[in-house]
Amino acid sequence: MTSLQPVRLRDYTPPTHLVDALELTFDLGDAYTEVRSRFRVRANVPPGEDPQPLRLHGRHLELQSLHVDGAPVSGDAYLEDPEGLTLLALPAEATIEIVTVIHPQENTALDGLYRSGGLFCTQCEPEGFRRITYFPDRPDVMTTYTVTLIADPEPYPVLLANGNRVDHGERADGRHWATWHDPHPKPTYLFALVAGDLHLHEERYTTRSGRDIQLHLYVEHANAGKTAHAMRSLRKAMAWDEDTYGLEYDLDTYMIVAVDDFNMGAMENKGLNIFNTVCVLADETISTDGDFETVEAVVAHEYFHNWTGNRVTCRDWFQLSLKEGLTVFREQQFCADMGSPAVKRIQDTRLLRSIQFPEDDGPMAHPVRPESYLEISNFYTATVYDKGAEVIRMYHTLLGEDGFRRGMDLYFQRHDGQAVTCEDFLAAMADANHVDLDQFSRWYTQAGTPVVQAGGRYDASTRRYHLQLSQHTPARPGQTHALPLHLPVRLGLLTGDGQPLPLRLPGETGQAPLERVVALRDASMELVFEDIPEAPVPSLLRDFSAPAVLDYAHSEDELLTLLAHDTDPVNRWDAGQRLLLNTLLASVESGQPPELSEPLREAVHHVLSGWRTDPAFVAEVLTLPSEDYIAEQQVVADIDGIHTAREALRNRFGSSFADAWRTIHDQCDPHAPGVNGASARRLRNLALSYLGAAGPQGAELAMRQYHAATHMSDRLAALEVLIEHGGSTADRLVAAFHDQWRHEPLVINKWLRLQATATGRNALERVRALTAHPGFDIRNPNRVRALLGAFSQSNPVGFHRTDGAGYRLLADYVVELNAMNPQMAARLVLPLTRWRRLDPRRAGHMFEQLERIGNTPKLSKDLQEVITKSLA
Ligand code: PHE
Ligand code: ZN
Repeated sequence: MTSLQPVRLRDYTPPTHLVDALELTFDLGDAYTEVRSRFRVRANVPPGEDPQPLRLHGRHLELQSLHVDGAPVSGDAYLEDPEGLTLLALPAEATIEIVTVIHPQENTALDGLYRSGGLFCTQCEPEGFRRITYFPDRPDVMTTYTVTLIADPEPYPVLLANGNRVDHGERADGRHWATWHDPHPKPTYLFALVAGDLHLHEERYTTRSGRDIQLHLYVEHANAGKTAHAMRSLRKAMAWDEDTYGLEYDLDTYMIVAVDDFNMGAMENKGLNIFNTVCVLADETISTDGDFETVEAVVAHEYFHNWTGNRVTCRDWFQLSLKEGLTVFREQQFCADMGSPAVKRIQDTRLLRSIQFPEDDGPMAHPVRPESYLEISNFYTATVYDKGAEVIRMYHTLLGEDGFRRGMDLYFQRHDGQAVTCEDFLAAMADANHVDLDQFSRWYTQAGTPVVQAGGRYDASTRRYHLQLSQHTPARPGQTHALPLHLPVRLGLLTGDGQPLPLRLPGETGQAPLERVVALRDASMELVFEDIPEAPVPSLLRDFSAPAVLDYAHSEDELLTLLAHDTDPVNRWDAGQRLLLNTLLASVESGQPPELSEPLREAVHHVLSGWRTDPAFVAEVLTLPSEDYIAEQQVVADIDGIHTAREALRNRFGSSFADAWRTIHDQCDPHAPGVNGASARRLRNLALSYLGAAGPQGAELAMRQYHAATHMSDRLAALEVLIEHGGSTADRLVAAFHDQWRHEPLVINKWLRLQATATGRNALERVRALTAHPGFDIRNPNRVRALLGAFSQSNPVGFHRTDGAGYRLLADYVVELNAMNPQMAARLVLPLTRWRRLDPRRAGHMFEQLERIGNTPKLSKDLQEVITKSLA
């Protein structure tokens, strides 16, 4: 590997030139596309100073011509290198005209202008625009766009770009064209175009202030019937943002286009979102309840970006969390309001602990605002997105609902139309509330998961309870000494039989609150609570009030009290998870089957008996911690021991509570009046899964459910149980399932995933065979994620085979994808980077594969960065 220079935050300099307006013309052809660009630049220097050279980024472009102020530019007036052009002697103001030729048909990286099925589409975030034409491809250069598309009308009747269509027509040669204008200045990463033959689902929406907006959802004709849910979600998101933040949409048309080849979930291009089909299409026959939730969340997320991302954008890519953390937080608030806040918060907590904490603990650890990168595409991470959202949530927790809203209002008032930094956001929050948030800024600069240690002491003679809280963040690469964070701890105290206690601090009179948010700012602090009648049970970090690990030695009795009585649903759930985790870890360590203590058994019965009140919550509480999450608790993960223990506990759960599960499976009716169907199916299918784990009767039940199913959630849940039981019946069903759905790519994703995650001795052979199946396509990211991503991330026993064959298989495809789609390759390789957490034999095999990938000729920057960091 050659050594490349990282880009560093501290080297940021403002743009040398500003661009006033940009005109682009795309002549879209079957062999190649010609891109004409014309823009006016102004030197960004104080009057009288000499303008600097202008850097135009560009990659894989064929430069046809370059004019400045109408005259061709001579070879000594610019420098050309593989990453762009530098124009040397420009006047203070100039008009630049460039013609390039590109080959979207050959673009397998899905970055820039590319083909997906019969469509032309673009993906420009973060640096795809430079694969389209030469331009200052950086988010702090914002300009207005006027875009003309020219194409053959028959394959491409629909021609779209950002903003409003201002003109269109036909040419003498039979080709047609359309011109679009976007009045809002924007950075290159928000540019988009689409050309193709698409079905349009059209609705109208009236904003609170009475503006009439056209909502246009474009999909391939075969998917015409699957847009209703996304459209409904969009309307809800628009109304929610008006109600919650007073924010309205700002163009006359809002467009969403679905494409099946997409590296990520979706993209918030101004007025023209481009979505992965996975995140927009849904109907009951092909989608699970989880898919419906994903669509609602992602549609809302991209819509919310219009203000948090587009109107106010990022100065540079180190500020990525400025838009992503904030938008994920807004998405979380929205989903909580649309469904169950408790269940949503539990899911967020689970995600942070199972994905972001490990990332923070591994070789790719970075702060929410990274300090350097080789390839920015590697930083679209759980840390930037989800820990970033937790950072925003902490402002909300510390400042309160109204204070947070004041901060948001000031942020938009100050920065609308600008490209800004995380400091600007923090300053708006601080200034709007007249508080000092300097220490809070460490959340942006320090990597690693903080540990909050707690210890309590009850003094019966004074009736006082002393609670010690302390914090530390373990050392991370390049960060030996972390400083104390400004960390909100939401807490309450319960009596032994579960009554909430008033939290009276010394000297306080009047009614004391039952819950407090305490700001832990020093390395440690002591809180004293008065008038406490007995040694209390502390409920700490309620609602997961900070992205931290809580270290408090709760006894089993205390956890049982919290599980049964805590008023905070997240901590009720967490207490249950800790009880299960302790049971599982004890079994892994002893090698004995897991023991369900009598009190725990009773507690589970008690939870089960409340299933009618909130089925989804009960399902969350009774879902066992994942194998990965259990492994995270160990210094060296005992892959096989964990699997054995967890399977044994699933079997126990199934048999010990069989009657309750059967009742639930029988009576938890998703169609009953007043019942949330998704929530009912969730619990009912958990019941089925436990009954399946307990024995053949469960499999019979699954067979009946499979054949009776009208909803994909029910069908898949049943099939999963049947696959677990194996045998020729399962093989036959798997084959039949494929035949039934062979024309629905979204269902084929599920079919691949099911088999990739199924355990059993021949998992690897099955996955390898599937890579040759016509349903798999290495060039399609959804298929790669469904098969190889799922196998390496959700099939621990299969992937971590002791002979290293799982690692070799993954590495083979990483190498293949290196040349084809570097972003996908760099994401797919991640499971191999955690070799330090495994036993020497497996670690050695992983290391070997990392080295092998590292020695691949023409290794992409994306992979170089990941490989170098994980071998270091
Ligand atoms: N900005 C997109 C989102 O979070 C994600 C994305 C990043 C999509 C990069 C494509 C490429 O909504
Ligand atoms: Zn986003």
